[in-house]
Amino acid sequence: MVCLGNICRSPLAEGILEQKAKTEGLPWMVDSAGTNNGYHVGEAPHQLSQKVAMQHDLDISTQCARAFVPEDFDRFDKIYAMSSDILTDMKRIAKRKFDAAKADLLLNELFPGENRDVPDPWFGEEPGYHIVFDMIDKACDKIIQRYSKAAASHKQSS
Ligand code: 4NP
Repeated sequence: MVCLGNICRSPLAEGILEQKAKTEGLPWMVDSAGTNNGYHVGEAPHQLSQKVAMQHDLDISTQCARAFVPEDFDRFDKIYAMSSDILTDMKRIAKRKFDAAKADLLLNELFPGENRDVPDPWFGEEPGYHIVFDMIDKACDKIIQRYSKAAASHKQSS
């Protein structure tokens, strides 16, 4: 899960998907990163992301912001950008490691092919964080549905 600062949107996405995968018994490694490594590396998620997550019984306080690196394309099967500017950043940073088959916009899980962005709540107030939480939560439900079905059919055929 990738955004700009790795303190507002992508920590929520990491926490939400990790919690859902755990509930479903899916042994996934979920992580998040930011394409701007100059701002917030080493910081905990934004207070409002933490607050909104806590209202959904999700503790993201121990996450620590890190920079997105080209090697993330080696380590992960799927990499979701929160918005199209971030997808452009990922291409610029990853260069020849960029793998279009692994990268997508998160909201394309919810609205296939529409290339919608998760809005950046950084410059706004608390309501923006609730909107972002709900969007990410619904998109993560779709990810779980899709890949848990794929895992079940793989199990049946093997
Ligand atoms: P994020 O939000 O990409 O969702 O973590 C932002 C965090 C910090 C800044 C911009 C966006 N910033 O400009 O410092």
